[in-house]
Amino acid sequence: MTGTVIPRWELHIQPMFCLLDRYHMLGYNINFDDVQSVWAHRQPILSHVQGGSMPPPHENGPWPKEMVDLFARWVTAGEAQFNGSPPALSLAEGSDYSLTLQFGTLQILGKASLPYQGSKAWFQIKSYNQEAATLNLYLEDPPNPSPNQTNVGVELSLDMGKIGTAPDKVIVIDAGGSHPLPVSSSMV
Ligand code: HEM
Repeated sequence: MTGTVIPRWELHIQPMFCLLDRYHMLGYNINFDDVQSVWAHRQPILSHVQGGSMPPPHENGPWPKEMVDLFARWVTAGEAQFNGSPPALSLAEGSDYSLTLQFGTLQILGKASLPYQGSKAWFQIKSYNQEAATLNLYLEDPPNPSPNQTNVGVELSLDMGKIGTAPDKVIVIDAGGSHPLPVSSSMV
């Protein structure tokens, strides 16, 4: 089962590039923060990581074989199953966000619309500090989705931790934009 998971940019590929890689390679016009830039340079990147010359062996390289294989699988999946586009997530259409307390734990609730059979949506925390927790409402679509599916609504929830450690607000980023949800003083 896990061997059939298609690597996605945000979850599996982007985190393999560290700040040193990102900083150095900007000077060579490869932006490791930008999926389109990495995709456009995928062949030279692949041959450098396969050959062990990048990341440089006297710095943080070379990558272990598992990381090289993962990058190669991502490239193959994009070319074979995603019409030549990089396998990546997008943001889902969402609605009905609310914050609630469940046994002392702050929970966010919401709804997402799934465009295809096999699509999946979930809240993913992108940043967290006292001021705000920012969540992406991620959407993962299957390869070669059938175009004649109708949207299916699903209910989602995520625990945000014990109320004593709750941020001042929760911000959800979805396909429609940014939705701030203040944590009300009656909750804390
Ligand atoms: C996963 C990490 C990295 C990858 C995939 C990568 C990939 C590449 C690629 C594809 C090129 C050729 C660019 C071209 O010909 O236009 C290149 C060149 C270069 N990279 Fe990286 N790089 C990585 C990390 C780093 C780091 C950490 C450094 C420095 C500390 C670095 C320094 C250089 C330098 C100096 C060149 C130009 C000279 C050469 O081709 O050997 N790279 N890299």
